[in-house]
Amino acid sequence: MRHIISVRDLERREIDGLLDRAGEIEARRFDPDLLAGRILGLFFFEPSTRTRMSFESAMARLGGVSLSMGSVEASSVAKGETLADTIRVVSGYVDAIVLRHPREGAARLASEFASVPVINAGDGAGQHPSQTLLDLYTIRQSMPLDGLRVGLLGDLRYGRTTHSLAIALSLYKAEIAAIAPKGLELPSGIIHELAGRGTVVSEYTAVEEVIDDLDVLYVTRIQRERFPDVASYLDVASSYRITPDLVRCAQPHMIVLHPLPRMDEIDPGVDALPNAKYFEQAHHGVSVRMAMLSEVMG
Ligand code: NCD
Repeated sequence: MRHIISVRDLERREIDGLLDRAGEIEARRFDPDLLAGRILGLFFFEPSTRTRMSFESAMARLGGVSLSMGSVEASSVAKGETLADTIRVVSGYVDAIVLRHPREGAARLASEFASVPVINAGDGAGQHPSQTLLDLYTIRQSMPLDGLRVGLLGDLRYGRTTHSLAIALSLYKAEIAAIAPKGLELPSGIIHELAGRGTVVSEYTAVEEVIDDLDVLYVTRIQRERFPDVASYLDVASSYRITPDLVRCAQPHMIVLHPLPRMDEIDPGVDALPNAKYFEQAHHGVSVRMAMLSEVMG
């Protein structure tokens, strides 16, 4: 049985294989025999639009069906059921589980109690492997993945998409520029882990210091829901903004990515520039998740 919990569990050849598979799938968009009769269970304990709907779309395109737990308030979780018990029970109803949960480590825990494959769709500030795969897929559409200089901008403390992506990029000999407002820096544990994987991280507080040296700028929103109080969020809110003028300071080939949703960190004027790839990135979620579902259930 194959779970996908953290990019740490994936070797480079497995990631490349999934991205190749997504590319083949993208050309067809449908393979309705592959998972016909299979059932995917969606368990989202946090809000989601893209991740949830692209998993549902991916499952439908593979001929399968999705069942959703629905809102936390409407489920037995509201009665106090533990995640372990919920997962044990629903393992009997579905052929694979997609789980998003506010607690870091929740997906790993779920995989220990599940009798079907578990895919982590985001665990607190931990990991978001399906997002990372579609990020890499999008980069690879524009340039080869090896040896890139990638700027991660925004809430690098709580942003699970940046944690996942940084670890995966270390397999591709990237150099990472970690650009964060004060207090939202990349956790030192991750910086040490990256160093151990041979990846140099340089830290900045302003994107202007480094934008002309990047191949990829990965922008993220401030993860308001993970802040202890409103005041500490307001201290850093709106502390960076990518504008068309700023993008014009970059090398012409630099692409701008964002896992979305965006708040005010990318000016809508950037959308029309050829560097802006974030909407394409979101579209790639379907083929990449089709590749993942066929990997764990096919
Ligand atoms: C991200 C997440 O949930 O971590 N969203 C997504 O899946 N595209 C990013 C975010 O919410 O900021």
